[in-house]
Amino acid sequence: MEKLLVSIEKIFPFVNREQINALEPEITKSLQTLYNKDGKGSEYLGWLDLPSRITEHEIKEIEETAHQFKKKTDIVVVIGIGGSYLGARAVIDALSHNFKNLLNENSSPVVVYAGQNLGEDYLFDLIQVLSNYDYRIVVISKSGTTTEPAIAFRILKKHLEDKYGKAASKERIVAVTDEHRGALLDIARKEGYKTFVIPDNVGGRFSVFTAVGLLPIAIAGFDIHQLIRGAKHMQQMTSPQVPFAENPAAQYAAARNALYRNGNSIEILVNYTPRLLYITEWWKQLYGESEGKDNKGIFPASVNFTTDLHSLGQYIQDGRRILFETVLSVEKTRSALAIPNDADNNDGLNYLSYKPLSYVNKMAEIGTMLAHLDGGVPNIQIEISQINENSIGQLLYFFEIACGISGYTLGVNPFDQPGVEDYKKNMFALLGKPGFENLSAALHERMEKLE
Ligand code: PA5
Repeated sequence: MEKLLVSIEKIFPFVNREQINALEPEITKSLQTLYNKDGKGSEYLGWLDLPSRITEHEIKEIEETAHQFKKKTDIVVVIGIGGSYLGARAVIDALSHNFKNLLNENSSPVVVYAGQNLGEDYLFDLIQVLSNYDYRIVVISKSGTTTEPAIAFRILKKHLEDKYGKAASKERIVAVTDEHRGALLDIARKEGYKTFVIPDNVGGRFSVFTAVGLLPIAIAGFDIHQLIRGAKHMQQMTSPQVPFAENPAAQYAAARNALYRNGNSIEILVNYTPRLLYITEWWKQLYGESEGKDNKGIFPASVNFTTDLHSLGQYIQDGRRILFETVLSVEKTRSALAIPNDADNNDGLNYLSYKPLSYVNKMAEIGTMLAHLDGGVPNIQIEISQINENSIGQLLYFFEIACGISGYTLGVNPFDQPGVEDYKKNMFALLGKPGFENLSAALHERMEKLE
């Protein structure tokens, strides 16, 4: 089993250990509340034991569908947004070759995404590419009515049917949606698509270990057994039976809550490899939607180092002192690349001759951490030994349970997202959706006054 270590030692110049210890009863109670299922939003706690509950049969069914897709097509378009998109993308990007799409030896289809934005050029360009390749679609929406993926699906479904004919198209589409209701379920039933269920009691941002994440991940060629195994291990490592000081999720939740109470209201998740970029995107949704409510919550931000050391690094070092950093630290890289010696040494880099690039990156990581500590930025470290299915499964479950604990400790319902509705209402009103006539009139009046 891969290791995942959380180190909170470098927050102590800013908060003291007594503050962490004082949080133990609250953190322990929050964890127990999750397990007792008697807190706010407890109807959405289906994710809590998902890794240990998912059956071999369920995994096999996902793998079989993935296999059918893999052997028959060049591209799979995964349509979804938010929790119905980010988990799959986070895992696939973390595990993939950085230039997979340019390799000629692909044994799995290229996974591309749609419905995660409303960019006209994006979808137009995608359709242009899809016209030249064999492709299939996985459409994911729990509600079945989210505007962005619904529009993308309507457009791509038509393109697919025009290209392959209606009868052949139904074999090329799989829908992941609610078991009982929703427009997507209705369409899937009418057209006869293969479907997978998003359980009622699992919210979008906690759904990566359901078919929402597992099907695209398996299609991309990754081992979902190992992913689940990692998550299951972390489920055991973070259960209420594990003492506070040994429970990585409890330690992380305690550290970030102590810092928040100390005035550190922005948490920056830091990665030192582009492979983890979408893990940080997934994390921002998880924590932003779960904690940002009732005028409370840590604002989750992210940076990609060392790239962003040449931009946001200035603010982090020297700007307002309301930040703390959580660094995703990876011990071993997948490949080795040494810096060559150069007889002329015109660039002055010979002091690095024969050193692996990962050594330079590690020194950048340590040097940055020390500089930011000196600049007044507390530091939490989450270390994994390498990036693979097992460690990513652990990491995602770790963040999920720490999020549940943190949210309850903050005093909010971590499993709803009422704030997401407000923009939707305005957008529907402005688009003239039936039922939004009064709001539409009010918004147009406001807009006229602004002109
Ligand atoms: O976490 C959430 O609940 C949201 O981000 C949803 O996943 C997102 O809005 C997509 O919803 P749906 O799956 O219903 O299309």
